[in-house]
Amino acid sequence: LNGRPAQGMPKFAFTDAQIKDLAAFFVSRSQAVANRMEYKILNVVTGNPEAGHAYFDAHCATCHSAAGDLAHIAAKFDPPALQSRFLYPVTRRYPGQPGPPPDPKGQVTATVTMPDGQTVSGSLLAQDDFSITLLDANGQRRTIPLEDNGMTKVEIHDPLLGHEQLLKQYTDADMHNILAYLETLK
Ligand code: HEC
Repeated sequence: LNGRPAQGMPKFAFTDAQIKDLAAFFVSRSQAVANRMEYKILNVVTGNPEAGHAYFDAHCATCHSAAGDLAHIAAKFDPPALQSRFLYPVTRRYPGQPGPPPDPKGQVTATVTMPDGQTVSGSLLAQDDFSITLLDANGQRRTIPLEDNGMTKVEIHDPLLGHEQLLKQYTDADMHNILAYLETLK
């Protein structure tokens, strides 16, 4: 009602009923957060399977096939899990984090070429401006310094890059349509 004019929030001429509505909304949000483990996901299969099929042919079929690797995919996961499977097919989760198990096939790998031409390849464990750490084929951790003005070359291979890029492109309708289509692959 009073706002915070000094900080830039104006005051509002709300009625009593509007204030109660707003308060009820804020309380419901904090209750939803406090009880979020009890949240029941409602039906997420609301899209159009034909439109999803067309999207799949245009954007997914370069890497996947409905009759091949994704055959019967809808029988393996319930709809919410299948949805997060294509929206966020992550390779790492911290312990206790909800969601489908990490996918080892999505592991990010890297090849580092040293100034003398020697190369090291393996799964990417960490990278920053100063060094890169790989797990090589012998299961050994290798940390290679990168502070040499680009003399050491790093090539990252992320099999899930396609998914990361798609996540920036989907409309809400696309996501629902894709899931509706994947649900036909029982
Ligand atoms: C550039 C390649 C690429 C594109 C494009 C791509 N994916 Fe994937 N996708 C992968 C890789 C790699 C994985 C992880 C390894 C795997 O399970 O095959 C994956 C995993 C998945 C999974 C999980 C499979 C499982 O068995 O758990 C689903 C579902 C999926 N993608 C659906 C899609 C859909 C739908 C699209 C298009 C909207 C799409 N993908 C586009 C490469 C791609």
